[in-house]
Parts: sequence; structure tokens; C-alpha cells
Amino acid sequence: MPNSVCPWWLGYFIDNRLRRLIHDPARIVAPYIRPGMTALDVGCGMGLFSIAMAGLVGPGGCVIAADLQPEMLHVLQRRAARAGVADRIRVHRCEPRHLGVTTPCDFALAFAMLHEVPDAGRLLAEIHACLKPGGRSLLAEPRLHVSARAFDDELALAASAGLTLCARPAVRWCHAALLER
Ligand SMILES: C[S@@+](CC[C@H](N)C(=O)[O-])C[C@H]1O[C@@H](n2cnc3c(N)ncnc32)[C@H](O)[C@@H]1O
Repeated sequence: MPNSVCPWWLGYFIDNRLRRLIHDPARIVAPYIRPGMTALDVGCGMGLFSIAMAGLVGPGGCVIAADLQPEMLHVLQRRAARAGVADRIRVHRCEPRHLGVTTPCDFALAFAMLHEVPDAGRLLAEIHACLKPGGRSLLAEPRLHVSARAFDDELALAASAGLTLCARPAVRWCHAALLER
């Protein structure tokens, strides 16, 4: 596991009621998700966003919750079952340098995770590859860990991967960008 990766037990501190007051997950992703969509949550952690996304895609949609750490995915599965949306969430364990999702997606979220990835350009290329044409991706990075300049560098990598910047939505305490394939 690369040193930069958020340890799994910290998941309990970043996915809790207080965090939901700061980052209301449904409100943040609702503009991009419609019923029936396939949505990917890259670096999903314990599922703060995946579970909200599962509510938004509805019974006819699907969420792929992808993370490196099996412990994160186990907690996510328990929480999804409690929320009654486990049947719409497919967990996927990725490698540090390989996302490995091949399902075509309408939307991909990468929230507070790209700065932990050893090869961000490669991950962005993989996100591009699994988005359907016209599919969109929301990239958000915490201001606490990622400077404005470093976020600009990530956006340059996204552009090289073929993702077009279409908006800079406001997300509390974060740099954020909406990208389109
Ligand atoms: C700070 S947490 C954010 C979790 C969640 N997105 C959120 O906002 O609550 C970062 C997550 O990204 C995952 N992660 C780090 N590098 C990754 C990679 N290369 N591929 C997939 N997940 C990764 C970590 O295991 C961790 O669960």
C-alpha cells in the first residue's frame, strides 16, 4: 500500500455525521446523476458518496464502488445493506496503479482521492476510458492537502487524458472540477 493512502481506520473519521454536514453527498452529486445510470465512485472509502449515488441511480441503475482497501469495501457493504441499496452497488477492489473497471459509466466521482494515487495521469486515463461518450466526472480535492497549483496540475493531467473541463462547481473546503469525455 503506498504511504500516501488514507489508512482504512481513518475512514470512520471521514465518513460520519459531521462530515455529512460539510459534504452532503446527495446534494453534491445530484446534478450529475439520473435514474438508471451507471455511476462509478473511485476511491469510495466507506461509501459516503456511493450510498447516496445508489439512491440517485434508483433500482434500475448501478453504482460501482472502487477502492484499494478491502476493509473500506467491507464497511461500505455493511452500510449499503443497512441503507437498503446493497443490490445496486457492486464493489470493486483496484490496484494502486490499475483501476481495472471495464463497465461503461455515465458518471465517475473521484472525491478526495487523486492526490493519494501514485500515477494520477494513468488513473485519469482509465476514468476517461470507462466513461461513455458525453459521460462526466466530478473531481474534488481537499484544500487542506492539495494546493491550488497542485490541483491545476491534476487538471492538466485530466486534459491530457482527454477530459474536457466544463465547470468548476463549488464544493465546501475543496477544489472541484466537472470534466466531460
Ligand atoms: C481520503 S479517502 C476518501 C474517501 C471518499 N472518496 C470520501 O470522500 O469520503 C481516499 C480513498 O481513496 C482510496 N484510494 C487511494 N488510492 C487509490 C487508488 N489508486 N485506487 C483506488 N482507491 C484509492 C483510499 O483507499 C481511500 O479509501
